[in-house]
Amino acid sequence: PKSYPTGLIDKDWSKRELFFKSNSQRFLDAVHDLEVRDDDVWVVTLPKCGTTWMQELVWLLINDCNFEAALAKDLELRSPFVEFNFNAHGDDSKVFAVQDVDSPRVIKSHLPLPLLPAQLWQKRHKVVYVFRNPLDALVSRYYHGVTYGHNYGKTLAQFIEENLDTDATFRNAIEHAHEFYQLRHEPWLYYTSFERMKKDLRAVVEDLCRFLNKPIVDQPMDQLLKHLSFEEMKKNPTTNHLWEISQVNHKDAGKEKHNFVRRGKVNGYKDELSGEQIEKANHYIQRCLEEKAVTLDELL
Ligand code: A3P
Repeated sequence: PKSYPTGLIDKDWSKRELFFKSNSQRFLDAVHDLEVRDDDVWVVTLPKCGTTWMQELVWLLINDCNFEAALAKDLELRSPFVEFNFNAHGDDSKVFAVQDVDSPRVIKSHLPLPLLPAQLWQKRHKVVYVFRNPLDALVSRYYHGVTYGHNYGKTLAQFIEENLDTDATFRNAIEHAHEFYQLRHEPWLYYTSFERMKKDLRAVVEDLCRFLNKPIVDQPMDQLLKHLSFEEMKKNPTTNHLWEISQVNHKDAGKEKHNFVRRGKVNGYKDELSGEQIEKANHYIQRCLEEKAVTLDELL
């Protein structure tokens, strides 16, 4: 592998197993070499943690709250996903979507901190990180997978059981977030959570205005909060990944559809999983948190 800048974090390759399984070395090298532009904003999350919600918010803030433009084009085309071409088409030759978008770019990635472009480290440009309770993210990932094809025909219980075989899913969630959490005081990083966005979206918008150097007084706050509400985003075709779903190359894609903006609940997993499943997952989560000497409340 190429050498990645370490600096602020302790890099242990063995723990990156999940990412090496789902991304080829050629693709990771292309990401490593990606040119980062001065006015880029990177939205980094694990899947189903509120990425779309945050992308829409950041995109609007850096585009002077141009709601008309936001509603005219699918979010995936306005705010490119680094891993898109590789995930959807298995194409690892170039990071297409990102290179072809005009500045200022709002770029989405699920990669862990050390696998993001080397220039991001050198230039220290803006990164926004969103964490979410790993159990809510996991349930959300099941429904996503049904729509995109790879969980089609599988029950939620089966999917959860697969993820409870080992602690890998939960370890990955905690480690991914913890790396960014440790850097939360860096001026180039804004760390937040889905739960915090649900609790006080206005406060997150205000934080982001400061982070992105956008005067709060200039923002049409009420309109922005309404546009970003669950009800509005659920019925907004540009934030429901319709374009992306149409691009997915899987024989079962779209056979059973769940709205991308689906339930939007905190602790919704409690209604969907058994007590035994929750206990087992929490055991894995707790063990990883202890290793990192951090609590779930702190990460949230
Ligand atoms: P659920 O499936 O639990 O409802 P991502 O964009 O990272 O894939 O995350 C998708 C999750 O964010 C989904 O969670 C989706 O419903 C939720 N979400 C998207 N927009 C939202 C909003 N405006 N308010 C609340 N939740 C939202």
